[in-house]
Amino acid sequence: MNKAKRPVVIAGNWKMNNTPAKTKALISELVPMVKDKNGCDIVLCVPFVDIDAAVKASEGSNIKIGAQNVHFAPSGAYTGEVSAEMLKECGVEYVIIGHSERRTYFGETDATVNLRLKAALSAGLKVILCVGEVKDERVNGITDEIVAMQTKLDLLGVSADDMKNVIIAYEPVWAIGTGLTATPEQADETCGVIRKTIAGLYGNDIAESTVIQYGGSMNAKNAAELLAKVNVDGGLIGGASLKAADFTVIVDAAQ
Ligand code: PGA
Repeated sequence: MNKAKRPVVIAGNWKMNNTPAKTKALISELVPMVKDKNGCDIVLCVPFVDIDAAVKASEGSNIKIGAQNVHFAPSGAYTGEVSAEMLKECGVEYVIIGHSERRTYFGETDATVNLRLKAALSAGLKVILCVGEVKDERVNGITDEIVAMQTKLDLLGVSADDMKNVIIAYEPVWAIGTGLTATPEQADETCGVIRKTIAGLYGNDIAESTVIQYGGSMNAKNAAELLAKVNVDGGLIGGASLKAADFTVIVDAAQ
C-alpha cells in the first residue's frame, strides 16, 4: 500500500446543526485557523439551508463545501428533495451519500444510495459514500462481508473513470455519535477490506488511489492514531466538526 498516492480528506458532517448565522460565524472562525494546512483537503458538509452562508464564508479559503444528501431525479414531483444540479449551482462540490442515519431513519437502501450516487456523479459532484456495519454484525464476525456487499451494491454501474470522484467513508454504525471509536487496527483492517473490494471491482491502481476515510467518534484526541494507519486516508467527523478548535486539531493531525 502506498498511502502517498492518495490525498488525505478531512470532512466535517455537521448533520442537523447550525443556522445560517451560526454557519457564517463558525466558518469565519475556522478559515484563519486552517489556512496554512495544505497537507489535506478540508470539506464541510452542511445542511441545505446553510449552503449559501457556507459558500460565502469559505470563499477564497482552502475549505470546500459539501451537502449531506441529494435526490436521484434531475427535477420533478419530489416534495422536500434537492437535486444535484441545484447543489452544483449553489457552489457545492461534495455530497455525503448513504450515511447510516439516512439509512436508519429515512429508509435509504443500497438501491436508493446507488441511484443518488450516480445522479451526483453525473452532475459533477464528488461523493462521500458511507458504508459500515451495525454492532450485531461486528459481534457476529460478518463485518467484512457487510462492508464488501454495501460497497459493491452502492457502486453498481459506476465507471472506473468516475471512481476518481468517489471517496468512501467507513463508518461503523456502533461508533457514530456514541463516543465509541473503532481501534486504529479495526479501522485500518476494515478500510483495507473496502480497498480490496474496490480492487476486485476496478483493479489495483484505482483501489490504491481511492480515498477511504474512517468516521465514528473521531475527535481531537484519537485522530492522529487513526490517521496514521495505512488504509485510513482521512476522516468523516460529526460532533468534533462543530467546534473550530477540535476540528483544527484533527486537520493538524492529517498534515
Ligand atoms: P460522529 O459522527 O463523529 O459524531 O460520531 C460521524 C458521522 O456520522 O459521520
